[in-house]
Amino acid sequence: MSPEDWEALRLRAVELMERAYAPYSRFRVGVAGLVDDGRVVGGCNVENAAYGVTLCAECGMVSELHATGGGRLTAVFCVGGDGRALMPCGRCRQLLWENGGPECLLMTPEGVLPMSAVLPQAFGAEHLRHAEG
Ligand code: THU
Repeated sequence: MSPEDWEALRLRAVELMERAYAPYSRFRVGVAGLVDDGRVVGGCNVENAAYGVTLCAECGMVSELHATGGGRLTAVFCVGGDGRALMPCGRCRQLLWENGGPECLLMTPEGVLPMSAVLPQAFGAEHLRHAEG
């Protein structure tokens, strides 16, 4: 990923952030992710009067990933309303792990990090395979 590639992802995330439906928190989030076949998928947060039903931007992105053919996320840029890198919440780190794995890169306020650093000792599919009983 070149700096230009990251900037393209950031700009797409900003575009999507501007479409967020966040009338309750007024905290808009956008995210864009590069897929291993070159597609770019993304999402914005969508809130609900029943606050707990809120969909994070990453939920929309993962839905688009599967709805448009699947694949693995290789690089993700999530932004807040200021257009700067925003750390995904815990639940959404789990979504990124499931769909990108340890090598998927995430732009963070501290620079690019692999998901293995963003979600250390992550729970994943292999734990289910090793389950006893
Ligand atoms: N939000 C996201 O969309 N993604 C995250 O990773 C963090 C939080 C949204 C949910 C809610 O609409 C707003 O930010 C405030 O929590």
